[in-house]
Amino acid sequence: MATPHIACEPGDIAPLVIMPGDPRRAERIAKTRMADVRLVSDVRGIAAWTGTVDGVPMTVMASGMGVPSLSIYATELYSQYGVRRICRVGTCGGISSDVAVRDVIVAAAAHTNSAVATIDVPGVSLSLAASYDMLRGAVEFARAEDRTVHVGAVYTSDFFYSARTDIIPALDRLGTLGVEMEAAGLYACAMANRAEALAVLTVSDHLKDGSADLTADERETLFEGALEVAIAALKG
Ligand code: ADE
Repeated sequence: MATPHIACEPGDIAPLVIMPGDPRRAERIAKTRMADVRLVSDVRGIAAWTGTVDGVPMTVMASGMGVPSLSIYATELYSQYGVRRICRVGTCGGISSDVAVRDVIVAAAAHTNSAVATIDVPGVSLSLAASYDMLRGAVEFARAEDRTVHVGAVYTSDFFYSARTDIIPALDRLGTLGVEMEAAGLYACAMANRAEALAVLTVSDHLKDGSADLTADERETLFEGALEVAIAALKG
């Protein structure tokens, strides 16, 4: 049984899924961090790889960019492939002065300008929040390893290039840590399917300090730290 965007049998996908945005990063995670790995689906350049991480079965599959793309894969994974937990591992732009480029943010909640927060229940803006158990797993791992992670709300925007930069100071005043483009969609899909999700984000650029942006090489190295936090959250 295949779905429109995933071409394999339900048993080919593990209940725990690591979800970067970039398909090449998914392949890299599969080839460097998984054992007994096999390519189980490859539709529209979004490959799914299944294997084990430290002996635990996991699948790694990219989301593509933005809420609509992520929602397609997350919905099919949760509803047709028996996936229980998805951990997004990606990047964000810093909003708060409490975070710096290279820091890791664990997104406890996601504000958004996407319609995902308002379409399901008329008149209600839904709270888009992380799984408590995954959040706890991520934070306990980080503390045990003496790694700093920031825990708080992020802003999921439908626009990478937006003319509405004027709203960022208001989000900053409300304690919003960073901006990215997928977490709210992931949390909405998890809620719709009564499943679990978390986003672990490396700060790759800062809206208050453009000079600190990461190089492509740094992105890859720093990404490894966030990946370990994500793996702990999936197991946790
Ligand atoms: N992902 C990484 N940096 C970002 C930014 N500045 N805005 C939106 N998404 C991002």
